[in-house]
Amino acid sequence: MARTLITGGLVITSAEETPADVLVEDGKVVALARHGSQNWTAERVFDASGRYVVPGGVDAHTHMEMPFGGTRASDTFATGTRAAAWGGTTTIVDFAVQTRGSSLRAGLDDWHAKADGNCAVDYAFHLIVSDVSEPVLREMPGLVGEGVTSFKLFMAYPGVFYSDDGRILRAMQRAADVGALTMVHAENGPAIDVLVEQALARGETDPRHHGEVRRALLEAEATHRAIQLARVAGAPLYVVHVSAREALAELAAARDLGLPVFGETCPQYLFLSTDNLAEPGFEGAKYVCSTPLRPAEHQAALWRGLRTDDLQVVSTDHCPFCFKGQKELGLGDFSKIPNGLPGVEHRMDLLHQAVVEGRISRRRWIELACTAPARMFGLHPRKGTIAPGSDADLVIYDPHAVQTLSAATHHMNVDYSAYEGRTVTGRVETVLSRGELLLDRGDYLGRPGHGAFLPRSACQYL
Ligand code: URP
Ligand code: ZN
Ligand code: ZN
Repeated sequence: MARTLITGGLVITSAEETPADVLVEDGKVVALARHGSQNWTAERVFDASGRYVVPGGVDAHTHMEMPFGGTRASDTFATGTRAAAWGGTTTIVDFAVQTRGSSLRAGLDDWHAKADGNCAVDYAFHLIVSDVSEPVLREMPGLVGEGVTSFKLFMAYPGVFYSDDGRILRAMQRAADVGALTMVHAENGPAIDVLVEQALARGETDPRHHGEVRRALLEAEATHRAIQLARVAGAPLYVVHVSAREALAELAAARDLGLPVFGETCPQYLFLSTDNLAEPGFEGAKYVCSTPLRPAEHQAALWRGLRTDDLQVVSTDHCPFCFKGQKELGLGDFSKIPNGLPGVEHRMDLLHQAVVEGRISRRRWIELACTAPARMFGLHPRKGTIAPGSDADLVIYDPHAVQTLSAATHHMNVDYSAYEGRTVTGRVETVLSRGELLLDRGDYLGRPGHGAFLPRSACQYL
């Protein structure tokens, strides 16, 4: 593989910002040095003057081609990881799904079959446990041994992925025993279902009612309950897609007690709101996801949580459904709109926009998007940083380029953009994955099959 040199850029990690040249050999970063201080030669040289050199993004929450809501997420591993690469994300952690009545093993095998040979960037798996039973719990250590070290339980979606508190407690106990991290979708599903039924009976069928019935208090209540169950089980906990300030307050209180409780939010909760769900006609369906978008006042609390480290990770929860034919399944009944938003391509740019707007620092941008997810899910320092020995997953980022996000130009396999027409400053220019060039100034050079499965170690915050 070509020896590669990136010269003249500002290297940004979560720890420091250094004007440095970066030398890459055999897919690894081998050295960094002050600009021009070494007489390095290389077959391939990138001039990153005036640009940032940052680690490839790590998106720890995606759902490629997941069957859900009577349909299937519209990005395959091939299209979704290609879009990730366009957006500077070089690692995804996707959710393999245990089908009810089947084993974890079968779910994981399914996901390997979908991903193997198709991915443009490296990938790992969490496992969604939708059917907690003794035989299923007995499978967990073997899967941890294969590098699947986190399991997601749902307090929402009765009849689909939902587990009751007893099942969640058992799974948390087992996860703690085997050194795995329990992830929880924290919404009180049974209570939400009552409110859904009542809303529909009143004739409230529009997409905005999705946000109204999935009350912030029911996210906060479930978050509180998940934390207490994790305490009882002696298990670490990671709460996914936090959107309500009341839920964040529960996480902050737990962390103030020194509990091993972690939280993630997503760009949609930071940049979009219930105003989008209330867009005229059926347009609001484009923004239906769970947890739901909240009134804009919640955003300030989430940004604060990201600054104070009460939230550690920003993932996308990328789960795209086309407006035509998929979101439309919920015409006349918001509860039938498939839940999920596209986003894997735009996380790095949207978080950089937060840097531009002074909400977070450059180093915190990298920490939230690269380093913390790598550490949280046992991939650091191979992923998430730029250091001798780490994979040469590198992004040359132009902090001054201006771009307008649009379905007309994005690469995700979905017919709308949740950020249509939004202008952001900053753009991915060049992307390397393990030293291989995936993208260079608008030319896509990646290929399905470059991406490899990453077995993970345990959470590195514990
Ligand atoms: O609406 C969402 N979040 N869809 C994906 C499934 C999940 O709950 O993460
Ligand atoms: Zn979820
Ligand atoms: Zn999700």
